[in-house]
Amino acid sequence: MNLLIVNGPNLNLLGKREPSIYGSKTFEDYLNELLSEYPEDSISYFQSNNEGEIINKLHEVGFDVDGIVINAGAYTHTSIAIADAISAIKSPVIEVHISNVHKREEFRHKSYLSAVCFGVIAGFGLDSYRLAIEALKSK
Ligand code: DQA
Repeated sequence: MNLLIVNGPNLNLLGKREPSIYGSKTFEDYLNELLSEYPEDSISYFQSNNEGEIINKLHEVGFDVDGIVINAGAYTHTSIAIADAISAIKSPVIEVHISNVHKREEFRHKSYLSAVCFGVIAGFGLDSYRLAIEALKSK
């Protein structure tokens, strides 16, 4: 399968950022493990701290790839524009979160993306991304 992982704002700091919540592994290290677990799939990765760049990426690949795994970070809770982009494209999108957002502050309980995504996975640490890939593969 041809899959894309999209990480939003502040997720470039994984490994350094609040390790008690997000763990101490960098996303690059995790991605290498993931790539070796799925040698037959093509998994590409895009990270941006910029809402418009995330939208542009969704437009660019969202009519071609077999699935998209997105952790939009805090844009999850604010971005109608990313939700509209997900609605506009054809590829199935899974929303993921490293932390269990429902156990955290109330402002993290609202997601503008969930209603337009194929499914949501939250709270399994970095394994949330692998679980999302499994979900796309078994779809
Ligand atoms: C997050 C949860 C969001 O509330 C937060 O803004 C993030 C990371 C997660 O993966 O747990 O940046 O999406």
